Amino acid sequence: MRIVTAVAPVNIATIKYWGKRDDDLILPLNDSFSATLSLEDMCAKTTVMISPYLLENKFWLNGKEENMDNPRLSNCLKALKDRLNKENSEEVSSWKIHICSENNFPTAAGLASSAAGYACLVYALASLYQVDGDITAIARNGSGSACRSIFGGWVRWHKGSLEDGTDSIATQIFPTDHWPEIRVLVLVVNDSRKKYSSTLGMKQTVMTSELLKHRTKFVVPDRIEKIIDAVHKKDFQSFAKLTMKDSNQFHAVCCDTYPPCFYMNDVSHAIIDMVHVYNEFKGQLKIAYTFDAGPNACLFIQESDLSEVLSLIRYVFPSNLNANEYYRGIALDKDL
Ligand code: DP6
Repeated sequence: MRIVTAVAPVNIATIKYWGKRDDDLILPLNDSFSATLSLEDMCAKTTVMISPYLLENKFWLNGKEENMDNPRLSNCLKALKDRLNKENSEEVSSWKIHICSENNFPTAAGLASSAAGYACLVYALASLYQVDGDITAIARNGSGSACRSIFGGWVRWHKGSLEDGTDSIATQIFPTDHWPEIRVLVLVVNDSRKKYSSTLGMKQTVMTSELLKHRTKFVVPDRIEKIIDAVHKKDFQSFAKLTMKDSNQFHAVCCDTYPPCFYMNDVSHAIIDMVHVYNEFKGQLKIAYTFDAGPNACLFIQESDLSEVLSLIRYVFPSNLNANEYYRGIALDKDL
């Protein structure tokens, strides 16, 4: 019998992935860039066990038994088993598996739960099966954004150009301790399941949006280079502007989808207004927002501004946002 437990944090994309060039292999139309939160914060925790004595495969998510016939899960397992080293492959690849996974934050509410979940699962299974080398391409089979949660720090997912997707991998661009003053606040506007999943939303976007073509060809390639340069120089002004513009363009692309996908709500829009008014008042960018496929906001802030920004949020949103519900990502201080 072998048993392994792993923990993987959520990653927050500052240059978004939205749109696939291959739905089965989960190959993206553009590169993306993200920051991985620290291990104490929003995490998935997964225990996997393999044994010759187990009778069937089983999978529990947050205490509830789920179906193992999930094609993404099967693809991850298959990709891992293909990489088993020859000496032990015969024996362990036939053993049944039990997976038990938990998130310490709402599942499927646009809070990157699948990213942390699959990164954690693939990392745990890779340790269990003693698979060496890159595992980001395997995590990508579970959920595209999961490949970025394999690393801490600042991570780029390269779209790659090969048809088989072997060059569509994530790499760590800067380590976890590169910019320790950066903090992430996650404002939980709504923690219920989102109306349409990222997978379905982006599929519809690829089929219908003209703006997406412009974004992937003319906007993202340049933005990726610029944001890497900004993080390299710890230039918060450039980093904040690029992050907010990319979030806005991602949601514009969702709006350009037919029928449109609206992920943000009135509270999300009010957060955007608050950030711009505050930045204007301060005469420089102090907060950057970014929104994924849901209404919840992620704010990037420098540590020295944290207490003032928390007071501001509590003042502007005394009731819509519960201050106790902030997940404070004391970001970027550990690798997996
Ligand atoms: C808006 O990785 O959840 O969070 O690959 O279909 O599982 P699938 O989609 P997913 O999409 C995440 C989209 C995003 C932006 C991002 O994380 O880059």
